[in-house]
Amino acid sequence: NKRSITVIPGDGIGPSIVEAALTILDHAGCNFHYDYADAGLMALEKHGELLPQSTLDLIAKNKIALKGPLTTPIGGGFTSINVSLRKHFNLYANLRPVISFEGTQSRFENIDIITIRENTEGMYSGAGQTRAEDNNSAEAMSIITREGAERITEFAYQVARSESRKKVTIVHKANILKSTSGLFLEVAREVALRYPEIETNEMIVDAVCMNLVMYPERFDIIVTTNLFGDIISDLCAGLIGGLGMAPGANIGKEVAIFEAVHGSAPDIAGQNIANPCSVILASIQMLEHLGMQDKAQQIRNAIRKTIAEGKTVTRDLGGTATTTEFTQAIVANL
Ligand code: NAI
Ligand code: MG
Repeated sequence: NKRSITVIPGDGIGPSIVEAALTILDHAGCNFHYDYADAGLMALEKHGELLPQSTLDLIAKNKIALKGPLTTPIGGGFTSINVSLRKHFNLYANLRPVISFEGTQSRFENIDIITIRENTEGMYSGAGQTRAEDNNSAEAMSIITREGAERITEFAYQVARSESRKKVTIVHKANILKSTSGLFLEVAREVALRYPEIETNEMIVDAVCMNLVMYPERFDIIVTTNLFGDIISDLCAGLIGGLGMAPGANIGKEVAIFEAVHGSAPDIAGQNIANPCSVILASIQMLEHLGMQDKAQQIRNAIRKTIAEGKTVTRDLGGTATTTEFTQAIVANL
């Protein structure tokens, strides 16, 4: 009676790093059954659409998906497949943890920050996108609802409480974006009052960027709106050795999709040199979501050991190993 996981290999470096993650899960004895589904360019070629109904059905059936990055063609009026997936399944919370691993190219040592990004509203709601006929002006609408702001901040404080974390930083720009960011801040403050044991800090997004680069140890959990969260989480990835080390979970009431933070990396696709840790770390998030904490810890320790040894790591971590060699080294350390 194996648990079924929907697996979307994705585009570019996706298939190779997703394959690496499945190899690790299998060697750790997770005993999953994988249902493969197509999305992205691969799906466009095979099925004539970027996000086929059969893929949506398979995600809905298993409730849990592990996905590689997807390429959204620029032009041609395609909406981002990732944005579509998040909206379709109402995956309102995007959890992006970054943790230091000894032996990476990072300048910092003890980073442990989770960015919790509102994943369905804000500047990415897709509403009111227009371009003037004469091409001289354009508009897009940012949407913040009380319900959306409340459920994401509530989610962030719940994570803080369940992981015994000390501090939540509410990131906003309410001084300028008075209506939207102002409402987000107001609602977040109300939620914060329900968690008196957790320290709450408010900071304007510009100040957050400077402080993250200078004093990352001052941050614990960050909760923010969609666009700020997208940008800040890449900044955080840079603090721990790059996008190859950054996973993300998209969580809704019913469905959860686990993925890398980065894209399909067309510049290095097909060369077997991508760092598979992003998706392996995403699969660790998946294991934790499924209550398989021991397996999660076992895999995390194997990654830690492999990177600390430093002999068999990919280029972005200062080594010369291929994706396959790096994966096998992690397997050996399981
Ligand atoms: P990207 O994130 O794919 O690449 C940025 C840089 O990071 C590149 O130099 C790449 O080689 C490097 N990089 C990324 N992942 C790496 C890994 N695992 N190991 C080593 N190096 C890695 O961003 P880019 O090039 O702007 O986007 C490419 C495509 O990805 C676009 O079509 C975009 O729409 C899509 N995309 C998809 C996402 C998703 O499916 N969640 C997220 C972001 C972008
Ligand atoms: Mg991004």
